[in-house]
Amino acid sequence: MRSVVYTKPGDSSVLTLEERPVPTPGPGEVRVRVVVSGVNPTDWKARQGGTYGDDLPFPEITPNQDGAGVVDAVGDGVDGLSVGDHVWLYMAAASRPTGTAQEYTVVPAARAVRLPEGTGFDIGASLGVPAMTAHRALTTHEHGPDRLAPGALNGKTVLVAGGAGAVGHAAIQLARWAGATVVTTISSDAKAALATAAGAHHTVNYRDEDASAQIRAIAPDGVDIVVEVSIPQNAALVAEVLANHGLVSIYANNGGDEATLPIRPNMSINARYQFLLLYTIGDEALTAAAEDVTAALRDGVLPVGEAAGLPLVRFSLEDTAAAHDAVEQDTVGKVLIDVSAE
Ligand SMILES: NC(=O)c1ccc[n+]([C@@H]2O[C@H](COP(=O)([O-])OP(=O)(O)OC[C@H]3O[C@@H](n4cnc5c(N)ncnc54)[C@H](OP(=O)(O)O)[C@@H]3O)[C@@H](O)[C@H]2O)c1
Repeated sequence: MRSVVYTKPGDSSVLTLEERPVPTPGPGEVRVRVVVSGVNPTDWKARQGGTYGDDLPFPEITPNQDGAGVVDAVGDGVDGLSVGDHVWLYMAAASRPTGTAQEYTVVPAARAVRLPEGTGFDIGASLGVPAMTAHRALTTHEHGPDRLAPGALNGKTVLVAGGAGAVGHAAIQLARWAGATVVTTISSDAKAALATAAGAHHTVNYRDEDASAQIRAIAPDGVDIVVEVSIPQNAALVAEVLANHGLVSIYANNGGDEATLPIRPNMSINARYQFLLLYTIGDEALTAAAEDVTAALRDGVLPVGEAAGLPLVRFSLEDTAAAHDAVEQDTVGKVLIDVSAE
């Protein structure tokens, strides 16, 4: 089979396309013929040494955590998945040497989730990192739900920082599905149009000097949950717009690795700052997210593509390096790799 690999950390030139044997699933695992591989910032950051440093944990690594495809072999002891099932994958390469930038990949059965009838592989390959992260960000409010479903966020206002980003897009869709009023920040009219297409009720340009006043005008009592991509840049704004007992879910270090928070305003409103990393949130949170995301898929509320606010940018498996570069260079939308025919 064709497999993209790297054996040392570095820029995208370390990626090469090789022939490798088709892997065999062990007990509790399934083998999936990958149709579409999804690329996220985590994939180029890991390849560049951001996760493992210079000492790769495996002699050879195939990148990409996300993907979608067809189950084509099932290991002993796997219940609930059969050959021929269409699945979406999450954390395919977490603590494992091989991800989805290859024609066949083996994953623990829990990381292959059946796609509802009629849900395509492009959507499936866009879910793992973005939607699972968004789910966690929306489910740790002190007085909020720990699961998402229609009505779960009724009466709550959610502020999604960067609504034209991949995680931001999923956060808008899930929050809207769950009944929240969704406000999002963006940096241009074009990104406002994408966030609106995703389902945001309101958009505010975070570069406007009066951005917090605009958000307060939309949400006079403040916002209940902030899905935050850049707390170093947004800490002051967040403290100005957060409601009493508000939650700030910090899932990224865009804009720097250290932030300064105004203590007194946050204290006065009993603010909670909740950090999260998908790889370490634990199986319970991952399973809850996978189930709720699949329920949202059944309701048809996680579309991708320009009309849904997330333009698709496609590459071939041979061009995996260019796909990684596109994500690293902040391409707007979702970067996908076509791996094999449907
Ligand atoms: N903790 C986790 O488990 C986890 C999971 C997923 C992703 N991440 C991390 O999250 C980050 C985003 O991932 P992604 O796939 O969503 O990337 P993406 O598609 O490139 O989106 C990033 C978005 O952030 C926006 N942004 C940047 N600075 C902003 C600011 N100060 N205020 C508001 N918006 C701002 C950008 O818009 P503008 O350029 O217009 O500002 C862009 O739309 C990456 O660093 C990734 O590694 C972490």
